[in-house]
Amino acid sequence: MTERELLDYAKEGMERAYAPYSGFQVGAALLAKSGKVYVGCNIENASFGATNCAERTAIFKAVSEGECEFESIAVVCSEGRKAYPCGICLQVMSEFFPNGTVILEDETGIFTYQVNELLPGAFRLDRRQTE
Ligand code: THU
Repeated sequence: MTERELLDYAKEGMERAYAPYSGFQVGAALLAKSGKVYVGCNIENASFGATNCAERTAIFKAVSEGECEFESIAVVCSEGRKAYPCGICLQVMSEFFPNGTVILEDETGIFTYQVNELLPGAFRLDRRQTE
């Protein structure tokens, strides 16, 4: 699976975004170690706090299907700029694939980051004490 292919799956997910409140559509495609791809979109709600981001939609779909090991996630948004994941999504990624790759793109090209590079201080139950 190339980065380009995973980004294209994310774009397919973005087509299904339910974002009537923000108008900001996001798509994500999560590559599991099994080779399977799980696609997600943002799903908004009139009670704004009930909104679910595209990345977490994809991750929760996968985990609920019994898949817990992942290689990478591609994220795209309707504004054509890099769709950096929010802190909550990075925290959820850190739970399952802290060493995995986040794949983003803008009009200049494709960019990759490690999850723990984007959220170096992720919360973990085993490091509650001051380090
Ligand atoms: N959103 C995502 O889907 N992923 C992120 O990482 C950040 C934000 C969505 C949530 C909401 O539907 C819209 O973008 C505006 O915040």
